[in-house]
Amino acid sequence: MNRMTQIQMHKHDCLIVGAGGAGLRAALGASLGAKTAVISQVFPTRSHTVSAQGGIGASLGNVEPDNWYWHMYDTVKGSDWLGDQDAIEFMCRMAPSVVVELEHMGLPFSRLENGRIYQRMFGGHTSNFGEKAVCRSCAAADRTGHAMLHTLFEQCLKNGVHFFNEYMALELLTHEGAVNGVLAWDMVRGGFHLFHAKSVLFATGGYSRLFRTSSNAHINTGDGVAIAMRAGLPGQDLEFLQFHPTGIVGVGNLITEGARGEGGFLLNGPGEKFMVKYAPTIKDLASRDVVSRAMAQEIREGRGVGPNKDHILLSLEDVPADIIRERLPGIKELAETFAGVDCTKEPIPVHPTAHYAMGGIPTNRFAEVVIGSMDGPETPVPGFYSAGESACASVHGANRLGTNSLLDLIVFGRVGGERMREYANSLDEFVPLAENAGARGIAEVERLMNGTGRERMGAIMEDMQRTMDQNCGVFRTEESLSRQYDIIEELRKRFEDIAIDDHGQSYNLDLVEALELGHMLDLAAALVCGALARTESRGGHYRDDFDKRDDENWLKHTQAYLEQDGSIRLDFKPVRLKPLTVDTIEPKERVY
Ligand code: FUM
Repeated sequence: MNRMTQIQMHKHDCLIVGAGGAGLRAALGASLGAKTAVISQVFPTRSHTVSAQGGIGASLGNVEPDNWYWHMYDTVKGSDWLGDQDAIEFMCRMAPSVVVELEHMGLPFSRLENGRIYQRMFGGHTSNFGEKAVCRSCAAADRTGHAMLHTLFEQCLKNGVHFFNEYMALELLTHEGAVNGVLAWDMVRGGFHLFHAKSVLFATGGYSRLFRTSSNAHINTGDGVAIAMRAGLPGQDLEFLQFHPTGIVGVGNLITEGARGEGGFLLNGPGEKFMVKYAPTIKDLASRDVVSRAMAQEIREGRGVGPNKDHILLSLEDVPADIIRERLPGIKELAETFAGVDCTKEPIPVHPTAHYAMGGIPTNRFAEVVIGSMDGPETPVPGFYSAGESACASVHGANRLGTNSLLDLIVFGRVGGERMREYANSLDEFVPLAENAGARGIAEVERLMNGTGRERMGAIMEDMQRTMDQNCGVFRTEESLSRQYDIIEELRKRFEDIAIDDHGQSYNLDLVEALELGHMLDLAAALVCGALARTESRGGHYRDDFDKRDDENWLKHTQAYLEQDGSIRLDFKPVRLKPLTVDTIEPKERVY
């Protein structure tokens, strides 16, 4: 056996992959009664949750009356009715208590005068069923995710969670129908590590890096979703990708929707506040799919800003400079660094940016990974859980409301951690490893390390991201998607002929990025197939050639399977339209 194929073995009751908010919250729950480890590609506090800005949604009602039922209504409506309503009800009902729990852990929320948690308005969040925008986003200035990550990481350390930082997951291990571990690559020293576990939770984040203009960290390459698909599990609703309206032009970095929540507004080239045409009631605080499309439409019809009329302006002129400094310090800095503007004096040039994957590994409301179809109940995959952006619960359906992602990862990280701990403790023995456990992941690394092909990863990545922007963005058509399908198939062929230039073991980012590219190409193929098949417009998926929602034919989830030959097979699953309890409770009980 050469050095590369030596495998170090580890054994933990509960194994979590990913150390963002969902992974850390799950680790916290799991570690309350089980030996728990987390593997993460980056140091935990550098996970992508760190960049979540505007807040976490919860109907605390600290500023004005609110209740979870209105939150649920907004979330179902925002999802364009594709969300599973039992999971949405569960999430919205849990929201106030999980936020207070975070507060008690020490999360430094901003405060109102009376000492309660500060709450601001956010797109799509309303009171009284759409009557008016409501302050529901619980915020720590515009660094809520940052504050959350640090709080959770400290709690995990206190609980004795074992962290394997800078390890990359390669393969999901299964045997006798159950998930029982993960093969990973040690990015620092090189070498394979096999983590044998009783239960595994993927909190591996989203895949918005499939696109060139993206608000996401470079690690958001959808590894977990692709690894699950390679293990034979479906990817759900992968065609639904959210474009956040306000990415800084040219780079895509996020300017929080909280900027509009504090009173900012969008202006087109002629200087019009154009959102009034598209959403007369809540205007700039309409849901993201509506605002992004409105911006793209203004640009498409020649009313963009700048010499190329290719962007829109976000003006903060109605927000006092001291409020910007106190509540939006992060975006002030970002605008200065990446757009060269002082947003207390000038508007910020913005453009829709790929932001969030609504699709992912299918789960139920307990974060259990499930397999389903149109005929018959869903079946949980024993020992396998997912939470956060890598999962599709599906609480966001076709379009996520801002602040519901931090909420999603806390609620489902929490329940997933508890469930995986209970499951692990219910097993007397570990499910034994299959004879060939890890063989596929090892073969992939060895293929890349030993490859002598002519293709280079950077060129394929650049072609993929650029064409995904062009053909699979805010507006899609049969023609653009078919073109993109052919492009991705061609890129996948080129990927077969890839060689990397660094053959070292230690910090071989050439290898890591090539592995990520392989995952992204599989996901791009599945995303495009789903988008081609879905001949309707719903939420983040807008087809110019089918511009209406089609509930008769498409009120269903897609399930994309990666076949052995690399092709994508689509199956479908019904949307759960029945809430848990809302039919039966009295209005007075609905107030938190
Ligand atoms: O606009 C934002 O601050 C983003 C929040 C979110 O995606 O939930």
